[in-house]
Amino acid sequence: MLATLWLLSLSLPILWAYTLISCAYKSLCQQALVSGNDVVLQCDYPKAFWYFSSILGEEPLLLASMPHVKKLPGGSLQLTNPQPSQTGLYHCQDNDSALVVEYEIDFQDVSTLHITHKDLGQKPLQNETLGLSGHVLIFTRWEPWQDCNRCGEPGERKRLGYCYVKEHLEKPMPCWLYLRTKKARYSRMRPELQVEACLVPCNHVKEIDQPYFIFDIYQLGKLTNNMWLTCPLASIYR
Ligand SMILES: *[C@@H]1O[C@H](CO)[C@@H](O)[C@H](O)[C@H]1NC(C)=O
Ligand SMILES: *[C@@H]1O[C@H](CO)[C@@H](O)[C@H](O)[C@H]1NC(C)=O
Repeated sequence: MLATLWLLSLSLPILWAYTLISCAYKSLCQQALVSGNDVVLQCDYPKAFWYFSSILGEEPLLLASMPHVKKLPGGSLQLTNPQPSQTGLYHCQDNDSALVVEYEIDFQDVSTLHITHKDLGQKPLQNETLGLSGHVLIFTRWEPWQDCNRCGEPGERKRLGYCYVKEHLEKPMPCWLYLRTKKARYSRMRPELQVEACLVPCNHVKEIDQPYFIFDIYQLGKLTNNMWLTCPLASIYR
């Protein structure tokens, strides 16, 4: 029975595991994300061409399918385990070289994540001003809280916060899109994760309707003390 489930689950599409980033037709969207977590950049044009230029400003590079960057049949671009070096402009165009959609993505380094627990009195990072003029502010822009990890009993939930810079009267920008080739680096420039306690009632329809995957079946030995289990399709965004 379990073996059948395993085969079945492997043949199902796994796109639900990817976080979808979308943007209106012919628009440019700027977004901060964290490195190491898979995303799909939406472009609804099956014959799309994708170009990438990093924040260093070199010529746009036509993206061919590589193991970590894959063009999906519908035109969207799938990025597996994206790295901070993949921060830059993703440009999707049609076969007549007309813009379909553009994304400017800041993949903030997940290994520098500042993690705090609200109910243990741990404080998130403070706002900081840069330079003597005091007109440049570094701050954290928080996402909404994610779902509670339990229902009907005390659990925990988390939210992500991205590093943003705001210059006097200007629209805030993700830190590394703001810095670009500037050499300066500031210790305040880190993405954040905050945890807090939560208690929510159970919604049985939702509990039963969760997608799941079985990758492997392994019997724990009596002699094994320490073990590290990796959840292959896990994401910091859920
Ligand atoms: C682009 O694709 C459209 C629709 O498939 C087609 O009508 C058009 O001729 C194509 N243009 C070029 C330059 O290939
Ligand atoms: C930090 O700066 C942001 C952006 O201007 C602002 O929304 C937030 O209230 C500030 N936080 C504190 C603690 O001053």
